[in-house]
Amino acid sequence: SRLDAVKNILSRIGGSMETERLINSVSATGYISWNNLRIPGVLQRLAWSYLVVACLDLMVDSWWSPGLDILLYWPAWLCVLLLEGIWLSFTFLLPVPDCPTGYLGPGGIGDMGLYENCTGGAAGFIDRWLLGESHIYQAPSSRAIYATRMPYDPEGVLGSINSVFMAFLGLQAGKIILHYRDLPTSIMSRFLLWGLFLGVISAILTKCSTDRGFIPVNKNLWSLSYVTTLACFAFVLLVVIYYTVDVKKWWSGAPFYYPGMNSILIYVGHEVFEEYFPFRWPMANSQSHAEHLTQNLVATSCWVFISYVLYRKKIFWKI
Ligand SMILES: *[C@@H]1O[C@H](CO)[C@@H](O)[C@H](O)[C@H]1NC(C)=O
Repeated sequence: SRLDAVKNILSRIGGSMETERLINSVSATGYISWNNLRIPGVLQRLAWSYLVVACLDLMVDSWWSPGLDILLYWPAWLCVLLLEGIWLSFTFLLPVPDCPTGYLGPGGIGDMGLYENCTGGAAGFIDRWLLGESHIYQAPSSRAIYATRMPYDPEGVLGSINSVFMAFLGLQAGKIILHYRDLPTSIMSRFLLWGLFLGVISAILTKCSTDRGFIPVNKNLWSLSYVTTLACFAFVLLVVIYYTVDVKKWWSGAPFYYPGMNSILIYVGHEVFEEYFPFRWPMANSQSHAEHLTQNLVATSCWVFISYVLYRKKIFWKI
């Protein structure tokens, strides 16, 4: 009967934009069709990253040896560095028709409107060429700010190389925890060193600026500096949480592990219900950061509460 209830809810919202997002065919016309099915997506990107990283890990399992954690699986590191070489080459060397080579900007009215149709540079070009304009995301965030007209997919093919790197850094964290089990000082010093190392790389790549560096932090491009910056923050946060939760046991980790244990359910729920009250309501001033913040905090709190109820009822969605 629970399944019936879910089916009932799904059929009630059938035909709306929200259901379409579930199966990834957001289109201008609002109809689901093979002709405008979006091929990339968030879940596709997660699946791809985990697939590659899992394969790398299986491949090098037999090389496991004591010593420096980075040497535990250096062949996998070699593969990842090779992948990064591919990302850098395509991003900075691929000639894109009517666009400057190595362009990383939004196009549209950005850069004085000089590169109107160059949204996303090589990354955008590859997706439009490989997947087709109608099979990628149609309303990138650059549209609102830079009045761009080109479809551009924030989960495109080129960025998927860097998301593999990001997942791989997560694997590195896991390796450290496993390898230095019961040695919290070793674990924390390694996390901090990784954080520091990635932070230095980010500082160099971005020249500590918003958009004047060699590679700016850009989530739509999943740029290399975006990966190193986020991973830097993640390692540092991990040290804080590992110390307070696992080492000192000052804190259980609540409420974070409730949504963490139901992440796919929360993600799908958020996608389906994001336009509905109480997750969203018409804003008095859509330009107000305070109001956006309030709305997002309310929505997040609701999902944390929902995940707490599900946790108590032992309902977990797993793939
Ligand atoms: C960009 O594309 C649009 C629509 O395809 C076209 O009208 C416009 O001339 C293009 N701009 C440049 C600078 O090529």
